[in-house]
Amino acid sequence: MPTTANAQRKILVTSALPYANGSIHLGHLLEYIQTDIWVRFQKSRGHECYYVCADDAHGTAIMLRAEQEGITSEQLIARVSKEHQADFARFGVAFDNYHSTHSEENRLHSERIYTALRDAGHIATRDIEQMYDPVKGLFLADRFIKGTCPKCRTPDQYGDNCEACGTTYTPAELIDPVSAISGATPEVRSSTHYFFKLPDFEEFLKGWVHPGHVQPQIANKLQEWFESGLNEWDISRDAPYFGFEIPDAPGKYFYVWLDAPIGYLASFQNLCDREGIDFDSYWQRDSEAEVYHFIGKDIVYFHALFWPAMLEGAGLRTPTAVNCHGFVTVNGAKMSKSRGTFIKAETYAEYLNPEYLRYYFAAKLTSRVDDLDLNLEDFAYRVNSDLVGKVVNIASRCAGFVKKLGDGRLSAQCAEPDLVERFIAAGDTIAADYEAREFGRAMRKIMELADEANAYIADKEPWVLAKQSGGEQEVLDICSVGINLFRQLMVYLAPVVPKMAKDTRAFLNLESLDWQSRESVLRDHAINKFKPLMTRIERDKIDAMIEASKEDLAEEKKLKETPKGPLTDNPIAPEIGFEDFAKVDLRIVRIAKAEYVEGADKLLKLTLDLGGETRTVFSGIRSAYAPEALEGHLTVMVANLAPRKMRFGISEGMVLAAGDGDGIYLLEPHAGAEPGNRVT
Ligand code: MSP
Ligand code: ZN
Repeated sequence: MPTTANAQRKILVTSALPYANGSIHLGHLLEYIQTDIWVRFQKSRGHECYYVCADDAHGTAIMLRAEQEGITSEQLIARVSKEHQADFARFGVAFDNYHSTHSEENRLHSERIYTALRDAGHIATRDIEQMYDPVKGLFLADRFIKGTCPKCRTPDQYGDNCEACGTTYTPAELIDPVSAISGATPEVRSSTHYFFKLPDFEEFLKGWVHPGHVQPQIANKLQEWFESGLNEWDISRDAPYFGFEIPDAPGKYFYVWLDAPIGYLASFQNLCDREGIDFDSYWQRDSEAEVYHFIGKDIVYFHALFWPAMLEGAGLRTPTAVNCHGFVTVNGAKMSKSRGTFIKAETYAEYLNPEYLRYYFAAKLTSRVDDLDLNLEDFAYRVNSDLVGKVVNIASRCAGFVKKLGDGRLSAQCAEPDLVERFIAAGDTIAADYEAREFGRAMRKIMELADEANAYIADKEPWVLAKQSGGEQEVLDICSVGINLFRQLMVYLAPVVPKMAKDTRAFLNLESLDWQSRESVLRDHAINKFKPLMTRIERDKIDAMIEASKEDLAEEKKLKETPKGPLTDNPIAPEIGFEDFAKVDLRIVRIAKAEYVEGADKLLKLTLDLGGETRTVFSGIRSAYAPEALEGHLTVMVANLAPRKMRFGISEGMVLAAGDGDGIYLLEPHAGAEPGNRVT
């Protein structure tokens, strides 16, 4: 817990680790900006504060995405990590370290924590039945299964709940379930899974969740969860899986959410190794350091139940607090790709200054879990009126006179010591607001001070005095006060607008704008030429950004539609030798018969003539061909593929087709080829 204001604290801060298969968007940025402001504030106060993060690189979604792009998971996560870090840098989010959960440090810490939990008896194993994709050869998470809702019969619903009627169910209850990956009918298979015994920690968690560790709204939520009972948590996944193999369980991998929070430790470990920081002094059980996790409201269960329990069970310290924020909406609605309000960080930065957004988020953030609306009208209005109209205005009104009348030097005397003193003293309550994550309240106080500074200048009318002879010193005195007040404001705003603060330091010729530095009043101090520190938001830039976001959507759609369907959804193919190729028995066949399959919206049932022999093959080409258009045509099949049992019958091979996203095209030989001919 925070000790006295002046004692130096040791603070470790994290933001949630973004998934390595998607771009950073404005929703994410709320979290990283909130955290970064808080960290910059702590550093400004002189505390030892480290801010670490990483990409969350494991799991099925990332594996499949890489496969879809035809690259390895490692290549995908390396590329995305670069993109993420470039986005964060643009928005002034200054991590002390950015790492990856796919790292040796994370493997080590994951194994260590798992082993400690196992040795303490907190791991159980048992067999569970799960949907399995026989084509793809992997177990399917609920969101990779689609089918018809058992309640309202809406088709194309995910395996856990119906978007139409809201019913929740298990994938086994879906009507006509299919794998969203291959289109195949899933089978139920059994395998051994590893569980973290969360109920072992019920008493501990009930004690841990007292005010201070989580916000009141979160404590209420946890209370509900306690009342409905804690369940054991499935922490293993079967191969193939992109992740870490469980040390004593070959073929079993840690579920992505097991090693994701451990990624906080891994990233910090990586920083400690590089900079000689004592890792244990932060993470051992009796540590005096503070640890804060900033997260969004969708991942509370993982951070306020699993994570403290894992740490406790493994003999490590638990977080000082989990700080949860709400979700970003744009113009009052969920971010929407079609409305162009699903705005990527990169797209925003092409059109608008990132510090506008940092200020707007700060102005609206509280310590609560409420959602935050980015109203684009209000956004332009607030930034223009506060930052440009109020704050920068003070400097721009005063700088010219200081240059002209003081030759760029402020007065040797402070003409309004009481006023400046009051601005300095206000720093204590503003600091308390920052500390409590009441950024909106802090911004309001800062803007009230800015109003006061402007009123002071307006009241003194230096521009009128400047025209009277003998008024020069007084004008210089007034403007020197103005510059001092501006300096105080910039100390308070610096955590929010670091780039503007940096330019202010250059303008004011100051080494530092740290919190403490504000206590020395600037007298007889040389300043530099004033350059506009922030310009107004132009509305047409906002419109252009929205249009560009709509285009982002169109491009994404193209990418998504590329390889799809059972025929073209190949894993990345490594190079093979001729002997491997020779194992594939490719034959010319005549399509003797083609039929629809009742209940399968992607399949056609083909009866194939191999020149004497007949085979039945189910093929996912229904969207491209009417059955009667195929009958009599020649095509190519893999004749020695092991028969596959599907829900509609046994498929005895596979026909070859090409697809580029716009359609599926069956291969057909030139005239002269005969059914049964070998393809070589
Ligand atoms: N990989 C997990 C976190 C693992 S932490 C050990 C994850 N990643 S995420 O990319 O989906 O989200 C990262 C953070 O961004 C989360 O805290 C999430 O709540 C936050 N946000 C994602 N979309 C958001 C909004 N629209 N609004 C506000 N925050 C949002 O979850
Ligand atoms: Zn339904």
